[in-house]
Amino acid sequence: MVAERGKFTNKLGFILAAAGSAVGLGNIWKFPFEVGLGGGAAFVVMYLVFCFLLCFPVMVTEIAIGRKTRKNPVGAFTSLGFKNWRFIGVFGVLAGVLILSFYNVIAGWAFGFFFEMVTGNFSVSKHFGDFTSDLVKVGTYAVIFMSATGFFVGRGVSGGIEKLSKILMPTLIIMIVIIAAYTLTLPNAFEGIKFYLIPDLNEITINTIGGALRQAFFSLSLGMGTLITYGSYLSKNDNVISSAAYITLADVSIAFVAGLMIFPLVAFINQGDMSTVASDQAGPGLIFITMPRAFETLGPNLGAFVGGTFFLLLSFAALTSTVSLLEVPTAYIVDEWGVSRKKAVLIASIIIFLVGLPSMLANGASDFFSNQFKIAGSSDFLSLVSKITDSMLLLGGMCIVIFAAHIWKKEQLNEELSNGYEGFKKKLVSKYLNFTISYVSPIILGILFVIVVLSEFFGVNVYNYLSILF
Ligand code: PHE
Repeated sequence: MVAERGKFTNKLGFILAAAGSAVGLGNIWKFPFEVGLGGGAAFVVMYLVFCFLLCFPVMVTEIAIGRKTRKNPVGAFTSLGFKNWRFIGVFGVLAGVLILSFYNVIAGWAFGFFFEMVTGNFSVSKHFGDFTSDLVKVGTYAVIFMSATGFFVGRGVSGGIEKLSKILMPTLIIMIVIIAAYTLTLPNAFEGIKFYLIPDLNEITINTIGGALRQAFFSLSLGMGTLITYGSYLSKNDNVISSAAYITLADVSIAFVAGLMIFPLVAFINQGDMSTVASDQAGPGLIFITMPRAFETLGPNLGAFVGGTFFLLLSFAALTSTVSLLEVPTAYIVDEWGVSRKKAVLIASIIIFLVGLPSMLANGASDFFSNQFKIAGSSDFLSLVSKITDSMLLLGGMCIVIFAAHIWKKEQLNEELSNGYEGFKKKLVSKYLNFTISYVSPIILGILFVIVVLSEFFGVNVYNYLSILF
């Protein structure tokens, strides 16, 4: 039958692995372009509010469910005695498969850029479209990335995932701080900082709010059971609340520094004019086109070195996230089908890779997948899957908190959270968590989920209706 379940060596190992899951393309690739599209600092403020006030309780709940049951997201609900609620887990595993299917493609681009730059093709960014439409290249890099992900997941929780995160996370932090320190010295850097940090409250619209919440969920790896799965490998002696606080803080800080790294650069390239960011530079190409332009100013050798380092950093950040995404279906297959970990990894990786083929074709390689999926400002298959999964995470998060507060019941949750945190029930944080997950999170998540779906998939601008009403 099933071999013994894995375990993180200690709390630090868990925090680094979970922070590794959180910190990824979402922070370095997605966050800056969402800020660009969302109007700058106003988006950042909303994002921070959501992360700390709304998402943190969801994270605590996910970890607690995982640690209590020691199961994958599907098995967890059955094991608590609520078989009818396992649809949340099924939905989560499905979301994981879909997210990794396109995430792996972009991670492959990042790795490809690193490889091309250090092997002499420094100007790869000038031909971004040629690069993404070269199926052989993009396919090869995606296979390499998926194999690396499978390799580490196959090695298990402490021997693979934890070890990888312990090396890559500190490396990543050092690299990102160095690059940000450099870009802050560029001419016009201050204009970028102003765009990024001084909020214009007029920029806050319903779409900014919905976008910030989607971003917060994606970035913190919430809503699909990643943290149920990682929580299932956490020891009963460890404090869930403080672990979740560190993970949130690490994720938010790295996204924040990524902004400090990128906006000065955009300002430098635009000679201080930030007015075109939303229209011209925001979007998936921001990192792959704009960043390398700044590296070019350093000349071919130094430029290739700094550029190579940057894309290596991006690949590292992506790898600790792809590993967590693959771990969810893997844990499901191991727990529920009684298959060995290595076999489960192989099955999950192959399925995900195949599901990702249309996304691989969606940036030029196939006209159909690149242009025929018109929805809310984009027309390619990859953006469509990304938008669908963003909404799935909000829905998943809402169901998880409703389940924990009203079905499993708060008393059980509090009991679990008291393990590793003596006196938890008397603390203010417990009152706050109980109140938020019972009422605030379900209501706000529910409303914003509906708004996001209406505006993204049905083109209904709820904001217009609201302004008519009030
Ligand atoms: N949080 C990851 C990132 O920011 C992506 C992710 C989402 C990982 C959901 C796991 C689950 O890149």
